[in-house]
Amino acid sequence: MSRRRRKQRGKRRVYHLALDEEGIQGAEVALLPGDPGRVPRIAQGFDPEARELAFHREYRSFLGHFHGKPVLVVSTGIGGPSTSIAVEELAQLGVEIFVRVGTCGGIAPHIRVGDVVIASGTVRLDGASVQYAPIEYPAVAHYEVLNALVGAARSLQKRFHVGILASTATFYPGQERKDSFLGCVPRALRGSLAEWRTLNVLAYEMEAATLFTMASAFGLRAGCVTGVVVHRERSERVTEGGLKQGEQNAIAVAVAALEALVRL
Ligand code: URA
Repeated sequence: MSRRRRKQRGKRRVYHLALDEEGIQGAEVALLPGDPGRVPRIAQGFDPEARELAFHREYRSFLGHFHGKPVLVVSTGIGGPSTSIAVEELAQLGVEIFVRVGTCGGIAPHIRVGDVVIASGTVRLDGASVQYAPIEYPAVAHYEVLNALVGAARSLQKRFHVGILASTATFYPGQERKDSFLGCVPRALRGSLAEWRTLNVLAYEMEAATLFTMASAFGLRAGCVTGVVVHRERSERVTEGGLKQGEQNAIAVAVAALEALVRL
């Protein structure tokens, strides 16, 4: 048991997640999809007897066991603000290892729909992380969590890439989408997609910068695996087929990584 947990152990209950220390049974690892609908699928992917602990607002939580160790699956909702609440409250309950399991929109030309992208770091366009650490502070994955995810992707023989993601505060203008209500992108963001491509940013998503910044600042460990659900060179729209492929592959890698994560 870590120093942090020993210090905090008690009957702590957190407001938004509607979880308490007793209920999470000392879980130190949490898998974090954005979508509450993905939570049971992930949890039952490693423990058919996983059960729901709470479902409050966008935060749905399941607890399962992997090799006898408790593992949480908790949805963060979309974007930095809601993710910051999930990470903050899980950290207060004693969680130490966080893995975002999400989807992304491909930017780099060599990436295909269905590929897995594992973040080594992210561009901090999320908006929320600056309230935890100044913008000069890096948003990087913890090397042990990164290694666990890479090892899992390799062992499953998935097509995967490791590199920098851009975590944006908005899905439409922030990712330079023109199929929006206004049909155009504010001046400050025009050309941003091409610029990120030039700078070798692999894909867009919306939560990892908040998670990485907070986990590093708290002295905790975080990683992020995403599945590519659309490629922005070809389309702005996420199709059902693309979503299914990307989701499945990211979930498979995260679940396989538990083998290493529960030993960290
Ligand atoms: N998630 C994002 O943030 N953007 C996409 O294009 C797809 C998934």
